Amino acid sequence: MNENSATVLVVDDEEVIRNICSRSLSSRGYNVLLAENGAQGLEKLRESQVDIVFTDYKMPIMNGIELLERVRFDFPHVEVIMMTAFATIESAIQAMKNGAYDFILKPVKPDQIRLVTDKCLEKINLGEENKVLKAANLKLLELQEMKNKFIAITSHEFRTPVSHLKGYVEILNDEYYDELSEDDKKQCMRVIVNSISDLESLISNMHDLINLKKTRTLRNISEIVLNDLVLHCVDAQEIIAKKRKLQLTFVNAKSEIVVAADQVQLEAVVDELIRNAIKFTPDGGEIKITIMIEGDYGVITVQDCGIGIKDSEQGKIFEKFYEVQSTDHHRTSREEFLGGGMGLGLSYVQTILEAHGGGIKVSSQKGVGSEFKVFFPLQIKNPEV
Ligand SMILES: Nc1ncnc2c1ncn2[C@@H]1O[C@H](COP(=O)(O)OP(=O)(O)OP(=O)(O)O)[C@@H](O)[C@H]1O
Ligand SMILES: [Mg+2]
Repeated sequence: MNENSATVLVVDDEEVIRNICSRSLSSRGYNVLLAENGAQGLEKLRESQVDIVFTDYKMPIMNGIELLERVRFDFPHVEVIMMTAFATIESAIQAMKNGAYDFILKPVKPDQIRLVTDKCLEKINLGEENKVLKAANLKLLELQEMKNKFIAITSHEFRTPVSHLKGYVEILNDEYYDELSEDDKKQCMRVIVNSISDLESLISNMHDLINLKKTRTLRNISEIVLNDLVLHCVDAQEIIAKKRKLQLTFVNAKSEIVVAADQVQLEAVVDELIRNAIKFTPDGGEIKITIMIEGDYGVITVQDCGIGIKDSEQGKIFEKFYEVQSTDHHRTSREEFLGGGMGLGLSYVQTILEAHGGGIKVSSQKGVGSEFKVFFPLQIKNPEV
């Protein structure tokens, strides 16, 4: 707010005081509004964007203290300056205790009015700058926290494949390698190849997320039969589920559901939800995947009987790098109960759904299980490009 845009309301029953205030403040570039009593003053406050109120202490209808109280209650961002005769200075001090910015003694002088108004405006501006700084500081703290989380998680995630690579490449380089059986040598190569592919998928996860956020482009929209796609995703996870004695059940819709989506992204969403359900459900549990039509949307529901998520955490799980469990629990394998991850999957899922004009809903109870429901439009309306 600059000086010229600040508006000052002068409330005084004496015309001469109103005129002095008006002249001295207008000459300084302030917008000035005038009122003869408190009731009129409140009306002006309701009608216009006022920054500072000058009020007389002794007035008919409503005295200065009463007006101050009403202003503090109804317009808390407005500063009040009390004008008072010497005889009532104690009341003026009381007014300050009640939240007035300052008081000036009558007879008021133009210089004094300008000075106190300038000071008051400076305080308002500082308060606003302070709010902006506080918001920026909060954002920085959040970014810092996200950075710390990123470092904590990535170091956990990268550590396992890197240490496998180190150990097994050392074996390849050792004289002892020649003494290994053909099967052991093959096993070494398998671990190395798997570790490299783990590293690759970590990097591609991060890359996908950043890229998708940046462009939000839906490149290959086509009509996709949801029934076939989800069945294919469930089949692909069957072996992992079996190993963990988890029962994966696909409840197909009676008729064909066709959605307009990017096939790769749609598959990524379904895979992520099933992977999460597997990861957060103890061995022997059940996971149910259902598809149906609700309104204009094709809906995929993934329901598990896993660890569940507390109410207070449910809004946060879509943030990048957010994980409810401590990063100390990390193990790179995504196939184990509480296995590792970067806390990126759901953020990726949400971005894809937003870009499709769809949505995601979670309902979960700690210790009981979770249900993730995603909505893909049956027809693309306004794809973001
Ligand atoms: N089905 C679920 N049951 C319980 N908690 C879940 C479930 N799905 C997600 N969460 C919680 O939400 C967090 C964020 O999920 P998200 O998929 O974004 O990350 P992640 O699975 O930990 O890692 P990534 O997906 O990057 O491999 C998880 O760490 C977990 O705490
Ligand atoms: Mg995940």
